[in-house]
Amino acid sequence: MRTQIAAANWKMNLSIEQAESLTDQLIAGEIHTSAHQLVLLAVPFPYLLTVKNKISKQSGVYVAAQNCASTTNGAYTGEVSAEMLKGMGISYVIIGHSERREYYHENNQILAAKVNMALEYGVQPVFCCGEPLSVREAGTQNSYVETQLKESLFHLDKEKLRHFIIAYEPIWAIGTGKTATSDQAQDMHAHIRKVIADYVGGEIADTVSILYGGSVKAANAAEIFGKKDVDGGLVGGASLVASEFNVIINSLKQ
Ligand code: 13P
Repeated sequence: MRTQIAAANWKMNLSIEQAESLTDQLIAGEIHTSAHQLVLLAVPFPYLLTVKNKISKQSGVYVAAQNCASTTNGAYTGEVSAEMLKGMGISYVIIGHSERREYYHENNQILAAKVNMALEYGVQPVFCCGEPLSVREAGTQNSYVETQLKESLFHLDKEKLRHFIIAYEPIWAIGTGKTATSDQAQDMHAHIRKVIADYVGGEIADTVSILYGGSVKAANAAEIFGKKDVDGGLVGGASLVASEFNVIINSLKQ
């Protein structure tokens, strides 16, 4: 089975005390992962090592960064490089979240450079894609997402896409409480897998974990994750509540 992933995206939330407390609560809730399951906690940069140390004994649970620089080390004030993440033992990084695209003007070309940096240092990207409401209303979401994938990922050697992680997050469903229906998620995930298969072949495309993100919560996770091409979720608001996120972890396909 493909790796099934519950990824928390804390975004720019929580004090350090709250971050420590949430981590302790998640552990106390007992995170059980099977061999094909993975739990990621994408926390703000300053909390990476604190949370990493707390979860070090939890099998199948890892911290992730929420971003990395598109360049190697140098005079880039305020940036954090993939090499630095690697040096701190961080093995996962979110790249291309819609909030980075919108507020920090990260386009598909910049994101391609970030993906290259992460892979060069052995940090696995969780690459985000997804359309705004206007595109969904125009019915052109498939070609919109296809372009995002092609322009940021399809310069890579095919083998680099084996076991890759993609998160489909329709922007109109992020933080709005408006979840895509499980059928809408499945339709887009199947499309993404087909686009990847056209590039690298079906055998590699079948190993790619495609997560759904956008108002995932305890109450809807099992239905969404139950769909054939949905391999878990990237979760914002509900990941800040331990009891919610523990249910979401337990909703991954067994
Ligand atoms: P919400 O779960 O709060 O809608 O956020 C989704 C998201 O952006 C995760 O990266």
